[in-house]
Amino acid sequence: MPVKQPAKRSTQQPAKQPDRAELTAARRDMQRTLLNYYAEPEPALSDADFDALKTRIAALEAEHPQWREWDSGAMHVTAPAAEAFPTRPHSTPMLSLGNAYSLEELREWQESLLRLMPDQRPAYVAELKVDGVAIAVRYEQGRLTSAVTRGDGTSGEEVTPNVKTIRSLPHNLPEPLTMEVRGEVYYPFLSFERMNRHRERIGEPIFKNPRNAAAGTLRTLDTSEVGARGLELMVYALASESPHPTHWATLGWLKELGLPVSGQTAACADLEEVEAFYTHWESRRDELPFQIDGIVVKVDRLALREEIGATARSPRWAVAVKYATEQAETRLLDVEVGVGRTGALTPVAILEPVELGGTTVSRATLHNYDQVRRLGLMFGDTVLVEKGGEIIPKIVGVDAAQRTGEKRPVKPPGKCPSCGAPPVRDEGEVDLRCVNPLCPAQQAERIRHFVSRGAMDIESIGPALIEQLLREELLSSVADLYRLEAEQLEQLERMGEKSARNVTAAIDASRTRPLDKLVFALGIRFVGARTARILAERFGTLEALRAADVEELEGVDEIGSVIAASVHEYFREPNRIELLEQLLTLGVDPQPVQPAGGEAQILSGRTIVLTGTLSEPRGRWKARLEAAGGTVTGSVSKKTDYVLAGVNPGSKLAAAQKLDVPVLDEEEMRQLLETA
Ligand code: IVH
Repeated sequence: MPVKQPAKRSTQQPAKQPDRAELTAARRDMQRTLLNYYAEPEPALSDADFDALKTRIAALEAEHPQWREWDSGAMHVTAPAAEAFPTRPHSTPMLSLGNAYSLEELREWQESLLRLMPDQRPAYVAELKVDGVAIAVRYEQGRLTSAVTRGDGTSGEEVTPNVKTIRSLPHNLPEPLTMEVRGEVYYPFLSFERMNRHRERIGEPIFKNPRNAAAGTLRTLDTSEVGARGLELMVYALASESPHPTHWATLGWLKELGLPVSGQTAACADLEEVEAFYTHWESRRDELPFQIDGIVVKVDRLALREEIGATARSPRWAVAVKYATEQAETRLLDVEVGVGRTGALTPVAILEPVELGGTTVSRATLHNYDQVRRLGLMFGDTVLVEKGGEIIPKIVGVDAAQRTGEKRPVKPPGKCPSCGAPPVRDEGEVDLRCVNPLCPAQQAERIRHFVSRGAMDIESIGPALIEQLLREELLSSVADLYRLEAEQLEQLERMGEKSARNVTAAIDASRTRPLDKLVFALGIRFVGARTARILAERFGTLEALRAADVEELEGVDEIGSVIAASVHEYFREPNRIELLEQLLTLGVDPQPVQPAGGEAQILSGRTIVLTGTLSEPRGRWKARLEAAGGTVTGSVSKKTDYVLAGVNPGSKLAAAQKLDVPVLDEEEMRQLLETA
């Protein structure tokens, strides 16, 4: 049964006996999370856990000022700036907002305001609090000149070219105004899901939630790629002086100038009207095409704001009122242990199916065994599942009071569920890991990754065949793929002569895949498809990449120290050296990567018709298709090779279907262009 819980400030309470070791461990976790944050699109800790960690460090440091460090997590939690984007100071600090977690706390906020100015009855503006990334956009003489992320509030990264790809943001204003607006860059759910599906297909890790995705996308170096992804902007403030006396009138003016101001905003004469706005969107937030985590309430009159003032962190004249995260209660039926490619053993909760945020949830992540221990989880427990802003639901609490009968705690496995080897936990790591290099589950995962699309792309080898080959001991590493012979395969159950030949032909064809595919297929930690391509383009050959030292690797655009160290280490590990030697001896011969634009001729001689509403201007699609050798025409005929269909495609779609012309959506077309 779904239940709403009040939003939480943090999931941990300050410890009663803080000590040095705990502080060191907390700082290390903070450090690791920050590192991962910039090396991977998925943060190692959820935001709530991250905040809790910050709070914890602050509490420990408050109790033990002698242990304070100038760069400790609590004081210094902002991002190290990416080298690729220049740092720019903000014209005025980009503050954050104070939070209220209930209507009662909202009323308390108003009371504190009224204490400051007893004779006033302020009017408010209520807005949605979109979950994205804050941005400051400057116009000079009516022309968009810069867009800077919030950064540490004082200065941020200039990501102008990427922000300019946001379709709703005008590059020119109708008047030659010099001003700065601020707003939130975000992903509508639809674009977010589309992008993740695409990432899955090309073997990139998926983004955990729309906010991380927006942050990741803004820091992407390839602007054309950003444009294809469908970011949006909601302008919520003017940072320079307003010609109007109120925020409400200012927003109206910004809208008239063509800026993307939210339509879901209300002028509220008093707090009751604000409360009505809050309640209205609380029950309807599932209907919004983007994620919100609350509302923002702002004093409307600008002169009054001046009087009220701000603290160093946030204005007193505004407050965010957070919504509760959707949660549901259900029973823990079992815990499965997954074995990843790197041997990480991950507990997954198997749940009695329950409805949550519009879907049925029957599995939830438990992250790692530290988390299981913190929760004190027992089999059969009544657990609280939360969906929050993330795709994968998680278990956030246990109702120990409902525990009956046999009390069997969930314990870390004493052996790997696949090979039986005793797991280890490396110093400073949270994951329990199977370190047996011959572990079948890891082997299977590595082989699955190696043959997947985006990697060596050996389509005829699916998970079932991999398992069969492992069972029959025909396969123990990816090198064995290149030793397989059609005669051996024919002996397998459900495998005819023809399919056996197909499989060996497909394996054979993969020997000459481009270098980036091989680099990605190797499964080097932190090296996704994109990073692999960057490395392949930069080093040209496998020999050069293998020989590169850490400095050379770090010198490559977009390659940070974490990736550089991982790549360097990979090529120096004896088992990997051996594997690569085997692959090369067996005739794997990676080809140089086609320079960008190498896909140019995939559509040579092909005719394409565009129909429906596309997520990018038609002109841009036309240019792209023509650059790939295609011709764009207006109507569908027998000669049409593809129809590119957007939303509400109309009669051209029907014509295509009648004539059996392949219809692609935008994502599929991008895929086609990319696979060239
Ligand atoms: S006003 C000085 N309005 O929430 C106040 N912020 O938690 C500036 N946000 O950094 C913020 N929607 O990124 C404001 N309608 C809205 C918002 C909003 C989302 C974000 C913004 C800010 C964060 C504070």
